[in-house]
Amino acid sequence: MAETNDHSVANGALLFDPPSNLQNEAHVKSMQQYQKMYKQSIEDPETFWREISAQFYWKSPPTGKFFEYNFDVGKGPISIKWMTGAKTNICYNMLDRHIANGLGDKVAFYWEGNDPNDFGKITYSELLARVSKFSNVLKNLGVSRGDRVAIYMPMILDLSVAMLACARIGAIHSIVFAGYSSESLAERILDATCSAIITADGVWRGTKLLNLKKIVDDALKICDEKGHRVEKCVVVRHLSPSDEIVKTNGDFEEEPEACRPSRKLKINWQPGRDIWWHEMMTSASSECEPEWMDAEDPLFMLYTSGSTGKPKGVLHTIGGYMLYTATTFKYVFDYQPDDVYWCTADVGWITGHSYVTYGPLGNGATGLIFEGTPFYPNAGRFWEIVDKYRVTKFYTAPTAIRALMKFGDDFVKKYKRDSLKILGTVGEPINPEAWLWYYRVVGNSKCAIVDTFWQTETGGHVLTPLPGATPTKPGSATFPFFGVIPALLTEEGKVIEGPGEGYLVFKQPWPSLMRTVYGNQERFETTYFKKFPGYYCTGDGAKRDEDGYIWITGRIDDMVNVSGHLLSTAEVESALITHKSVAEAASVSHPHSIKGECIYCFVTLKQGAEYTNDLVTELKNIVRAKIGPFAQPDFLQNAPALPKTRSGKIMRRILRKIAVGDRNLGDTSTLADESVIDVLFQNRPNNA
Ligand code: WT7
Repeated sequence: MAETNDHSVANGALLFDPPSNLQNEAHVKSMQQYQKMYKQSIEDPETFWREISAQFYWKSPPTGKFFEYNFDVGKGPISIKWMTGAKTNICYNMLDRHIANGLGDKVAFYWEGNDPNDFGKITYSELLARVSKFSNVLKNLGVSRGDRVAIYMPMILDLSVAMLACARIGAIHSIVFAGYSSESLAERILDATCSAIITADGVWRGTKLLNLKKIVDDALKICDEKGHRVEKCVVVRHLSPSDEIVKTNGDFEEEPEACRPSRKLKINWQPGRDIWWHEMMTSASSECEPEWMDAEDPLFMLYTSGSTGKPKGVLHTIGGYMLYTATTFKYVFDYQPDDVYWCTADVGWITGHSYVTYGPLGNGATGLIFEGTPFYPNAGRFWEIVDKYRVTKFYTAPTAIRALMKFGDDFVKKYKRDSLKILGTVGEPINPEAWLWYYRVVGNSKCAIVDTFWQTETGGHVLTPLPGATPTKPGSATFPFFGVIPALLTEEGKVIEGPGEGYLVFKQPWPSLMRTVYGNQERFETTYFKKFPGYYCTGDGAKRDEDGYIWITGRIDDMVNVSGHLLSTAEVESALITHKSVAEAASVSHPHSIKGECIYCFVTLKQGAEYTNDLVTELKNIVRAKIGPFAQPDFLQNAPALPKTRSGKIMRRILRKIAVGDRNLGDTSTLADESVIDVLFQNRPNNA
């Protein structure tokens, strides 16, 4: 569509029609077609999803109801079940099924390394052989159906191999983003009682060498101390031969980065426990019969932050997740067989699970896995890769778009980008300015933008435009995907019809809604179903405009969305109070021009402790060590006292105002002591 086709609507927002060239080939070509399909999907979900399920391979059909659920805490346990009793294997559906259909020689993944000279590819047949071999490796190591396997890996092909191999043998993968600290990794391994872990020696991220094996060693030590032994640790030899690896057999202190000779990595090696991936692979057979699983057997758990601080193991099951990720991928990215699709998300997050691995492979698509960062060797890297592989569909996060915007248009315009057709975004509300830059500069005003709203819990897109059908408004995730029934509720739980703003909830399950919190059904019910019986509650606020478009307004709980990654304020606070000088801490979200939100902390010190620059550095480092570098607070301030209610509850609403320097505090009548406010305004750091 040419830019002259943009038109304003009543409320002043811009409206963009789907690009006409895209519309012609699209699976859904008009709003009428979308509405017709949507209507069927919610009025008769069984027929809708049964037809879709016929595209997949099932060893045997469901034995009970096609789908059944209870969303009402008053009517017994919350439960969601699709196709119970049906037997399948998701890895078989991702690989063997396509090979049987003649796609064996099609590229499954291109791989682009951190270093632009480092790249490769793997076809569907090659991927199946590698996955089968690794499945046999896992079996030989004693991993079997139902066991939990932790994965802590960089963005390399073997990461997909590892997850598919788990799925092939019926083991449950628990991938931890390789940016989490050893303590966070240990906490997740312990919660899931993983019996094995798969990692790599190290990885270069930009100009930085990360010692992944060392982080895993430290995590496994913590697990040992807490009485849980991880029996096997499989290590991919990923660094090049010029990156020298020094094996030690005891503990060592990591040398400060500045004095570490470059390209030298010291790693601890525990014979018996630690095993090189490549050594096991040489003798493994490249044939492995898939384990036939129930549609409702667990596929994976993925930990996500919870408002109490302890991460929740979001559990997804095989059948529903397979149907929904493949179907959303097909319609939202309007998948066509000659596409080269690229999702920049790390596989350690849900976006990487659903839209780097399972969604694309479920369609027999060609995807791209990128190990590096958008800024290395320079801020043109994304577009250089787009041209190199002639990427047609591209999916990234608002935070990356905003960061790249700051580098100016030249880094984009240096490249042709004429292969691009659809540009997606996910992770947080996208500000209209970033949306328009994405549309006009990156997409040359020729691509459809799909702003996809979803969560780790939802498994796949739930609110999203369809690129050939939906006229888009910058900043709105538009309308529900097939099978999804959103509602906006008031605090009292009343349904808001027409324009309005409230709690975003969903009325009945679609196939990939999470099934439980691993090992904690009660927390599952309390977090998502207790507040509004009969609905799944997202924790986000949203508004609906006069045209029915839905706009996400952000979290309504104590969660901070840093660069599209949710963290709970409680998680950061409990890290801070482990410092010997800290008596109390409160953290709130604060707007950030690139990250969207960042973390702002108020710390109350113990008697006699002094608030110094060194202390600020130490506190930042504690958060890095306990959670991970991405969680580091941007701002800290001394808080001799915190604003509290008479019952002692910290008033974070007021802290958020102080953080941004806004004296419009609203109602302060519930404050126990108003005098703390002035002191806190005075103590704001200069850079805030
Ligand atoms: C939270 C979920 C889903 C993959 C990435 C994050 C926010 C996500 C959007 C969007 C506005 C969005 C919500 C949501 N969010 N996508 N398109 N527009 N907000 O997964 O860590 O589970 O976070 O991210 O607040 O609840 P997650």
